[in-house]
Amino acid sequence: MINHPTISVLFVCLGNICRSPMAEAVFAHIVQQHQLTERFKKIDSAGTAGYHVGSKPDSRSAATCEKYGAAVNHRAQKVTTQHFKEFDYILCMDESNLEDLLNKKPAGSKAVISLFGEFDPQGERIIQDPYYGGIDGFEHNFKQVTRASEGFLKHLGML
Ligand code: 4NP
Repeated sequence: MINHPTISVLFVCLGNICRSPMAEAVFAHIVQQHQLTERFKKIDSAGTAGYHVGSKPDSRSAATCEKYGAAVNHRAQKVTTQHFKEFDYILCMDESNLEDLLNKKPAGSKAVISLFGEFDPQGERIIQDPYYGGIDGFEHNFKQVTRASEGFLKHLGML
């Protein structure tokens, strides 16, 4: 058996209660389905803002994940300097998250920072904030993070 280096991935949105905990749950679920769990050191999520620190994911985000069998177990946290040292990939949802992350990135961090949607084979780069909309937005986010998860695993050469 070949020993590959393990990879750590942090998903980031604004509040860390809707999109990024969904991305974390869906990505971890897809990794597990492909029997790739051992290839990842850490899969986690965080928000650029601290309004919801300590909260469970939004019930609409959790319900959408659970509907498709992706277990959600997370408490909101804010992005810290430590995350930039600890994670190989920091994948965010929209341009505002990207700008905030690039501004926070400390000198010397080797983390690759990108829109998660860059890995969507359908080219839908932005994963829109669903907070003030209906359940449809969460369903749409779910499809996007599913496609982007597969695309990212292909990018890593694991699929
Ligand atoms: P998220 O969604 O960034 O996908 O977690 C949001 C959650 C909360 C707020 C905005 C977006 N908020 O303004 O409280």
